[in-house]
Amino acid sequence: MALLEIEGLTAGYGEAVVIEEMNLTIEDGEGLAVLGRNGVGKTTLMLAIMGHARRFAGSLRWQGREIGAMPPHERARMGLGWVPQERDIFPSLTVEENLLVASRPGPFGLEDAYSLFPRLRERRRNMGDKLSGGEQQMLAVGRTLMTNPHLLLLDEPFEGLAPVIVQEMEATIRRLRAEKGFATVIVEQHAEDALELSDRAIVLDRGRIVLQGRSSDLLADFGQVRRWIAV
Ligand SMILES: Nc1ncnc2c1ncn2[C@@H]1O[C@H](COP(=O)(O)OP(=O)(O)OP(=O)(O)O)[C@@H](O)[C@H]1O
Ligand SMILES: [Mg+2]
Repeated sequence: MALLEIEGLTAGYGEAVVIEEMNLTIEDGEGLAVLGRNGVGKTTLMLAIMGHARRFAGSLRWQGREIGAMPPHERARMGLGWVPQERDIFPSLTVEENLLVASRPGPFGLEDAYSLFPRLRERRRNMGDKLSGGEQQMLAVGRTLMTNPHLLLLDEPFEGLAPVIVQEMEATIRRLRAEKGFATVIVEQHAEDALELSDRAIVLDRGRIVLQGRSSDLLADFGQVRRWIAV
């Protein structure tokens, strides 16, 4: 059984349709990259999966169970973990409090967050608004992991980060996938980085999948990807 099965999904905001008739399956443990230019609907697809966008049509099945009408907090409780593009750190809570408020029972706890991101341990008493961009991103990922998700949705995790921090985040994501067997969906503008971190990729344009394949094949023939993502 697939982990997440999306069928005929049309979604958007208010009266505006952004995602159109999307079909997409994510297997347990699989890494999927979602590529595409600005404004093609990558974030909206994440929001629709989490229940934060309007669903006009279609179904979302999580481990065989329909979740399309379920509110976001219930989806989170079922194991969907989302790291938003804006990171949404609580500014007036400390690093440690940010991690603890998200905590749900499971194998991943505070010590795991600190061993994954030693910098967060050093900064554990810092307030959320007193962090660098890289630290905020580590906290955003760590906080979502504290919910003990089964699927990790990362929306542009490398955006605005210094190259050395990007490398650190990439290594962490690789480690999580290899050691914990997380299924991951990574939305990225840096297509080559995302392809190297994933098994499979889809390229979106105007709310539809225009290209998909194994990441290794798309890397080997990157010209066809570039055609859809070049500005
Ligand atoms: N809250 C909203 N209400 C109405 N329209 C929205 C809203 N959020 C996004 N949109 C529109 O939906 C379309 C897709 O936006 P989305 O944020 O999903 O794109 P994206 O691929 O994530 O872009 P980026 O790479 O810039 O993050 C855009 O035309 C955008 O203007
Ligand atoms: Mg986006």
